[in-house]
Formats: sequence, C-alpha cells, structure tokens
Amino acid sequence: MNLRFDLLPSDIAEAHQQFEGWISTARDVNEVNRLKGVFTGRKASHLTTLTELLKQTPKESKSDLGALINHLKITWETALSLRLDQLISKNSTSSIDLTLTPPVIPLGAVHPIQRLEAQIVSVFRSLGYHVEEGPEVETEENNFDGLNITPSHPARRSSDTFYFQNHPHLLLRTHTSPVQVRVLKRLSQKNKEGVSLLESLEGIRFLSPGRVYRKDEIDPTHSPMFQQVEGMLIGKNIGLHHLKGTLSYAMKALLGAEADVRFRPGYFPFVEPGCEVDVRCPLCKGQGCRVCKSSGWIEILGAGLVHPQVLSHAGIDPTVWSGFAFGMGIERIAMIISECPDLRLFFENDVRFLQSMREVR
Ligand code: PHE
Repeated sequence: MNLRFDLLPSDIAEAHQQFEGWISTARDVNEVNRLKGVFTGRKASHLTTLTELLKQTPKESKSDLGALINHLKITWETALSLRLDQLISKNSTSSIDLTLTPPVIPLGAVHPIQRLEAQIVSVFRSLGYHVEEGPEVETEENNFDGLNITPSHPARRSSDTFYFQNHPHLLLRTHTSPVQVRVLKRLSQKNKEGVSLLESLEGIRFLSPGRVYRKDEIDPTHSPMFQQVEGMLIGKNIGLHHLKGTLSYAMKALLGAEADVRFRPGYFPFVEPGCEVDVRCPLCKGQGCRVCKSSGWIEILGAGLVHPQVLSHAGIDPTVWSGFAFGMGIERIAMIISECPDLRLFFENDVRFLQSMREVR
C-alpha cells in the first residue's frame, strides 16, 4: 500500500523529515523525552494534531490518512523507545567504575554474651558435660527449699527476689542452681527393677546456662537480669580436688594459660564446703583498681561440694553419691575478658560497643 504523505500538513511533514536526524543526535534521555512530547505526546503533539485532522477529513481520504497516521505513530514510537534504550544502557555501563571499593554491608554478629556462653559450654563439653535447661519462672521449692536455703534466709525476701503477685510460690529464679534440683530429682527416679537413672548412668555432669533475676539497682556491676552458667558433677567419691582441678583447667581454657585463679572459702547453703573463686584483675594486673575494688582480684564464681541435704532432698543417697557444683556470672567473665568496666554496655546494644567487642577473642 502506498502511503499518502501528501495528506500531511506541511509543518508535520517537515518535522517528520527531520525526525531521524533529531533522534540520532539526541544526547540524553531528557532530549528524547522532549521529542517524544512533540511527536507522540498526549497533548498538542503532532500525533494529536493528526488525530484531530482525521476527524475533519472527508470520507474518501479518511482511510488513507488513517493508514498514514498509523505508520507514523509506529515509526516515531519505535525510534523513540530504541533511542531511549540506547541512552540508558550506555549510561549505565559507563557509570560502573570497577576500581571503586564496594560499599561495606554491615553484618550482624553473635552478641558477646552469647558468644562467651558458647565458649564456656564448649570448654565443658570437651570434659564430657552436656547442657540442661531450666525455666526462668521457678518454684520457691526448686529455687530455695531444694537447695537447703532456710525459710528465713535473706535472699528469699521480696526486697531481693521477684515473686509473682497471684502466685506467691512462683518467682523469677535468682540463680541457675534450681536446675541442679530439677536434674537430681529426675535422676533419682527408679525403673521397674528399682534402679535409679543416676545409677544406670553411673553419675552425671552437666552445664546449665541461663538468665537469672534479682532486685538489684542498675549500676556498673549490677543489673536486675544477668546470666549465669551452672555446672554440676555427681559421681562416687568426688572431692574438692576434682572441683579445683576442673575449674582451674576451665578458667585457663577460657581466660588464657596465664590467668591466675585462687580459691577462698565461701558460704552457700547448698554446698559444704563452699568456696569462691577469684581471678587476678586483668585491668590492674593485681595492683588494685576501681574494678577490683583495690583488692587485685575479681570474684567470678561460687562453688563447692554438693550438700548432702540437697542430694537427699532430691531422693539421692548422700552416703553413696557425692559431687560438686559451681555457678558463674557470664557478664562478669565477659567484663574481665574484654576489660569492660561497665556491665550496662552489654544490655544497651549500642552497635559501636558491640562492634568493638567483635575484636575481643
Ligand atoms: N548459685 C550461686 C550464686 O548465684 C552460685 C553457686 C552455684 C555457688 C553452685 C555454689 C555452687 O551465687
């Protein structure tokens, strides 16, 4: 079919002649868009002028003009969009600078407390300990009674412990030691032959990390919530030497071979004898500073031989079985390792602090 270019108004015919040239010299997207507006735009473009013209054209030339308009529309639209594509792809290839350093994508990391917890667990796993978990909401019985803590003991006061208002015998555990009670009770259960689980296992050693709660004011070394790791070993003829050997080994594995550890007598109702374990203050190397309160030592755990009362309360014969238990504060140890003087930093989640912790082993 022959197209009737003679039907075009002269200005549009002229513009169409120039179109190819304009399109190929358009240097950027804006220029192409301007041409697009002039030729195919929705308002006052050559295309809209032609559509108007079509309405007024006498019947006999309507189809010729219609065919011509169609042809022009396709020609213009195709050329415009091709040029746009060209310019866009040219632009994007030229904007890639392969010599630039790529932006650093900030990655999350395991929180230092969780990381230390995992390290502690792995040290004890290598000694044959497994992990036992207990609930944070505990009974008074497991948190205190089962641990030989008398009804008048000050730790039981509502000024020290979070009790549940409508459940006076439920509380937020104040230490991870109630897990001792839970595990011992389970182990004392006997099978049909009358053999206890403890007997068939020939003893047990486990670790129990978790959150604990106390009504403490927040300051650089106290928080109403902190984390502990409980450890317990039950066997036959277990003595203080086993406890001392285990903890000395574990502390060196955690803090480095040069770590200096000392054992002092200490009192906890659920162990006898009981002790407290200190490490030499890494900040002042034992000279005495604010963190170690001038003593040169920092207390990091409580420990001792399991009190016979705790065993018999759980239904285990203390004349046959003996063991040791210990409990350490994870934040305490984290403060020592990272030489961080303020416990609160571990809970505030300031990314600058957490970032700096990533470098600490
Ligand atoms: N439960 C004690 C505390 O929170 C620590 C401890 C655990 C002491 C086991 C002795 C034995 O301080």
